[in-house]
Amino acid sequence: MTHEEYLDRVTHYIKLEREDDQALLTKFKTLLHYQAGSYDQDEAYQSLDKFIKENAESTMSPGQRNRVFYMALPPSVFVPVARGLRRNAYATDGVNRIVVEKPFGKDLASSTALAKDLAQLFAEKEIFRIDHYLGKEMVKNMMTVRFANIFFSHIWNRMYIDNVQITFKEPFGTEGRGGYFDEFGIIRDVMQNHLLQILSLIAMERPISTDAEAIRDEKVKVLKCIPTIDVRDTLLGQYTRNGDKPGYLEDTTLTNKDSLTPTFAALVLWIQNERWEGVPFILKAGKALDAAKVEVRIQFRHVAGNLYKNAARNELVIRVQPDEAVYMKFNNKLPGLSYQTSQTDLDLTYGNRYVDLSIPDAYESLLLDVLRNDHSNFVRDDELDAAWRIFTPLLHKIDQHDADIKIATYKYGSRGPDALDGFVKHYGYDRSHAHYDWPVQSVLPKTD
Ligand code: BG6
Repeated sequence: MTHEEYLDRVTHYIKLEREDDQALLTKFKTLLHYQAGSYDQDEAYQSLDKFIKENAESTMSPGQRNRVFYMALPPSVFVPVARGLRRNAYATDGVNRIVVEKPFGKDLASSTALAKDLAQLFAEKEIFRIDHYLGKEMVKNMMTVRFANIFFSHIWNRMYIDNVQITFKEPFGTEGRGGYFDEFGIIRDVMQNHLLQILSLIAMERPISTDAEAIRDEKVKVLKCIPTIDVRDTLLGQYTRNGDKPGYLEDTTLTNKDSLTPTFAALVLWIQNERWEGVPFILKAGKALDAAKVEVRIQFRHVAGNLYKNAARNELVIRVQPDEAVYMKFNNKLPGLSYQTSQTDLDLTYGNRYVDLSIPDAYESLLLDVLRNDHSNFVRDDELDAAWRIFTPLLHKIDQHDADIKIATYKYGSRGPDALDGFVKHYGYDRSHAHYDWPVQSVLPKTD
């Protein structure tokens, strides 16, 4: 690349919204430099080091010459690049931080091997493993909702919660990313990382403080209480053509045209501890579905000896995206002369509630955390091990096309495989009151 091409590439997606943004961008570009080199040659890193010393660091005082290395790279070169940096471009007069993006391996063994190689080069406190879901506003809000509200603390357990669903829906297929995706599949792509991170924030015990290590200790602890996933607790699927929308196997970047890689999965995880035994945590994720949505839906048990026989179950929903919201499905007397019970909600939709709302992009927030040296929203090495342990046997069965593995089909743009509703019902989810008008309701009594 030429310097100009580089500048264009790295600033291409920056949105210019205000009048002076163009001037700021021009100024920002003067701070950027491009240094080309081979991943596996020491000289490349030496010239990078020389460049940094002679330019960026020449005006800094000793002790402030800190370096953050962000590896936006294919996983196959993580270790050689980390080695090159460690040997030739490691700051000796300031701190070093290295940021790594997923995939961190493909299973427990490969992840452990990668962690071991990286650990020989950088200390754990210098490593920031990004899971960008941890930078999302509503994911960061989960601890606050749970631990800053007294009315949740006593009902947050198996006595009151019937089931928990964590759902990730995307309305588009792999569309040109099939080459990458086929090697990983939906479970490695978004479940072992993003959805499991959400699960640990929902299920963990209260940390002793908001300190990064205290939080990560609790996450590891709860993950260790989850047995490996049983194939019988899974529903897997792959999307097929629907009208002009192509099926997964038609993706031109796919080399294996008979691929059995799942593009949809519903998996049930069980947490064997005092708080959660018997409560299914249903993780659902799919590409080419009917909507774009990520949410956590906690369904409570029926009210015992209920006076109002048809009252729906309470649900607490945390909508991560789009339109960030926390809402609680709630039973209320239908206003007016009627005594009917109606299901409504206590609704905190951010867009309606907060004026001047500006939610930073997940990466904005996480990059700032790296600069501030805050590890709370990054994945620790033992956390990664604990996460891979839960998924690895299932993933191996899928990779080896084990006879127990069945891949259902579903049409592009549908809700997923036909068996899905029956699957979640089997684990206790009561969908009978799922259809109600939201957010505006009529007060006319129901006639049926
Ligand atoms: C990435 C996955 O980690 O997360 C993608 O590799 C997925 O397949 C993406 O589309 C979803 O992120 P977001 O922020 O758009 O929900």
